[in-house]
Amino acid sequence: MLASGPKVTAFEEAFAGYCGTSYAIATSNGTTSLHAGMLAAGIGPGDEVIIPAFTFFATASTVAMCGATPVFADVDPRTFTLDPAAVAEAITAKTKAVMGVHLFGQPFDVNALLEICSDHKLMLFEDAAQAHGAEYRGQKIGGFGTIGSFSFYPTKNMTTGEGGMITTGDPEVARRARLYTNHGQSEKYLHTLIGYNYRMTDIAAAIGLVQLEKLDAYSSRRIENARYYDTHIRAAGITTPTVMPGARHVYHQYVIQVTEECPPSRDELITYLKDRGIGSAIHYPIALPDQPVFADEKASCPISRELAQTVLSLPVHPGVTLEDCKKVCGVLNNLTG
Ligand SMILES: Cc1ncc(COP(=O)(O)O)c(C=O)c1O
Repeated sequence: MLASGPKVTAFEEAFAGYCGTSYAIATSNGTTSLHAGMLAAGIGPGDEVIIPAFTFFATASTVAMCGATPVFADVDPRTFTLDPAAVAEAITAKTKAVMGVHLFGQPFDVNALLEICSDHKLMLFEDAAQAHGAEYRGQKIGGFGTIGSFSFYPTKNMTTGEGGMITTGDPEVARRARLYTNHGQSEKYLHTLIGYNYRMTDIAAAIGLVQLEKLDAYSSRRIENARYYDTHIRAAGITTPTVMPGARHVYHQYVIQVTEECPPSRDELITYLKDRGIGSAIHYPIALPDQPVFADEKASCPISRELAQTVLSLPVHPGVTLEDCKKVCGVLNNLTG
């Protein structure tokens, strides 16, 4: 079996078990998972979905792919995740759902958003593409909202090459998600809605089953590397990530901020690190309302715009050793400008 078969079923069951959700539906990637998941939850033309202004593009594009409108809300300056106060301000009569993003591996403020959603009869969605195994108050993320959506892209905390997963506790949403990911087929050659071919292959699922076994060890290594950075980075003008109380941050990225007090600029710092054999990256250089396709002058998202100018990701993945972290800290702490 090469296309969707028994390995996909086994991976779905194992992943649902890991996240503590009743259902998991495997998809071809995290983008198709968001798209099919939102369609299954009933998002469509005329609806607004509130999302953070600071996240990867697919969080927004998939709302638009449903025919709905992404409405950008600002993020918390400490955690970089959706600011509940900004969400409350962005609600209109058309709002149907709020999509929080567990950005860089840190859970968003689930309870605060659940409360807002319950007060306004909105659905909560979780974009969990970057946060496999992260926990909020002792519970794995992916089961707090109507849908959760994961990505298994190679840089993610676990991979299937390309792949994604929709998680849900709602049997009707799960049924519809299966339809949307498989041509709307309720039985072979019987099509009850316009769906897509968003299926995962058995080859990808076989990789996923092995990766899932390794996920906790991978997360521990990421957390260990992050702790090392937290306690050893002492460079002026560089701030290290803040972890929200009650959160298990799994550090998809370890994101520092290069502030104005840092002698070199962020671009100079990237070159300085590169010249010393250290890779770094900017996630993300442009806040979503400033992307040409969304250019939304009305969105007031000063924190997101500032983060786009100051963030820098340091190597944290499980292949990075504590010796590597020591080198990175030594190089950073020797900054003279
Ligand atoms: C927050 C977020 N959402 C969605 C996606 C989309 O996942 P994929 O690349 O698997 O389509 C990504 C992946 O980069 C992501 O980081």
